[in-house]
Amino acid sequence: MSLMIESVQARLRTEFLGRPIVYLARAPSTQDIAREEAQRGAPEGLAVLAEEQTAGRGRLGRSWESPAGTNLYVTLVLRPQVEALRSLSIVTPLAVAQAVEETTGLAARIKWPNDVLIAGRKLAGILIETEIAGQSVKYALVGIGLNVNLDVERIPEIAEIATSLKRETGREVAREEVLAALLNHFEALYLEARRGRPPLEGWKSRLETLGRHVRVTSAGSVEEGVAEDVDAEGSLLLRRDDGTRVTIPAGEVTLR
Ligand code: BTN
Repeated sequence: MSLMIESVQARLRTEFLGRPIVYLARAPSTQDIAREEAQRGAPEGLAVLAEEQTAGRGRLGRSWESPAGTNLYVTLVLRPQVEALRSLSIVTPLAVAQAVEETTGLAARIKWPNDVLIAGRKLAGILIETEIAGQSVKYALVGIGLNVNLDVERIPEIAEIATSLKRETGREVAREEVLAALLNHFEALYLEARRGRPPLEGWKSRLETLGRHVRVTSAGSVEEGVAEDVDAEGSLLLRRDDGTRVTIPAGEVTLR
């Protein structure tokens, strides 16, 4: 069944996020449509939503499973100051986790920096792409793929590592409710981050990674050790096995 945009709009409590929503039956990737809109001068807050993506993209050049009519594939166009850019990696997974908790009661966790997990399996992925000119951000594209009613078991490549709200609750979940909650939570957290108060504590308290022995791949190099903490910027503080400590601003974590 198609998503009912009016039902999303009726639940929105935002000033600018999701106003407007561009809703497409099918797109290669919502990131590409959002980029075109941003380059044409779209206002901050525009959300591009597709029922289906034919070339959905994940991080590190991976693809993102995007079948029709089951999940949420959305890209938000934002125009933050450069100082607030890094906080998008904190705001976004936390907004997803809060929306999931509000609409289903499920406890969502975060794998550093921004995968959202339930019971160790990936529920949502986040892709943040930015366009910077000199010292200023022209736009940031925050792409969120959230498995809502996906029958994960039917996709062998991800059946073991991914999950959906339907799988975790045992029932169909209204995508409209999840999307509206996501936009509402996102805007509130983003406004705070823009005022210099990124929601570090809420994010950190959901981090699955802390205290674990991990392998982190970052800019082509690999580090191993215990993920001891995160700093105020959201960087990971890793204690290597030889006792030295390294600060990693971004990367891909494998839990050991
Ligand atoms: C990841 O975990 O690798 C990130 C996945 C991001 C998927 C979303 S779906 C909406 C937006 N459009 C895309 O093509 N990708 C992002």
